[in-house]
Amino acid sequence: MMSDLNEIQRTAQQQFDRQSDRYGKGHILADVADVKGALRRLPWLKPGRALDVATGAGHTGLFLAGAGWQVTLADISAAMLERAATTARECGLHVETRQHTAESFPYTDSSFDLVTCRVAAHHFSDPNAFVREAARVLKPGGAFLLIDGSIEDGQPVAEEWLHNVEKLRDPSHHRFLSQGNWARLSEDAGLRVVFSELQPFKQPDLNWYFETAATTPENRAKVLELVRHAPPEARDLFCLTEEDGKIVWWWQRLVLAARK
Ligand SMILES: C[S@@+](CC[C@H](N)C(=O)[O-])C[C@H]1O[C@@H](n2cnc3c(N)ncnc32)[C@H](O)[C@@H]1O
Repeated sequence: MMSDLNEIQRTAQQQFDRQSDRYGKGHILADVADVKGALRRLPWLKPGRALDVATGAGHTGLFLAGAGWQVTLADISAAMLERAATTARECGLHVETRQHTAESFPYTDSSFDLVTCRVAAHHFSDPNAFVREAARVLKPGGAFLLIDGSIEDGQPVAEEWLHNVEKLRDPSHHRFLSQGNWARLSEDAGLRVVFSELQPFKQPDLNWYFETAATTPENRAKVLELVRHAPPEARDLFCLTEEDGKIVWWWQRLVLAARK
């Protein structure tokens, strides 16, 4: 299955195999308050089997394992899975790791109580196939939790600006989907949206963000140019500003939960 990756999947795999060292304990993703907050709003959900798709360094899945879930960590990148498995061992947590794409899962129908995917879906070549796979492997009553960079509907100028910035910054960025698009994909896959919320999330330093993605010097220059000439729609929506000489903005982070 891993041999016939499409171009978008291959680019993501290469990017994360190369950059896995950047995703350890000090990373801003290590703070899983967003995951905790979302799970508190799904009171019917009791620890069972969970699949964490595009687990990266495992921050979400390992939190679940520590909370009593039986967790499978999945990712397209072997280096990221190795990093997550090492952290699991260091923390004395037992998890299963599986290397596969987010667009096609090697699991039977109705086998998980929870499918999570955090800050990764903007890399996927086919978000529709991903949500359908998540719905397929969930048990009836199970929950789908998606957290990702997103944008409110009806903001085409800001959306295009952000897309151009992210694409230059990280070659494996594919597309942020709007809040409405994610809700539609979930409902079309047979899930019922329980809540969907855009939560502002501060990106404290553009340079740190460049380092994380190993952005090339010429692309850094192009991003800085886009920032300098950001249209008012983008400037306002993302609160683009400078603080202590650092370029700072606020992502619109979508937290969406749906039930099968
Ligand atoms: C930013 S990291 C994920 C962060 C992690 N979920 C967390 O909560 O900390 C993005 C991950 O998506 C994975 N990825 C990108 N495209 C993928 C795809 N099509 N299928 C599976 N994993 C993918 C990358 O390998 C990378 O590990």
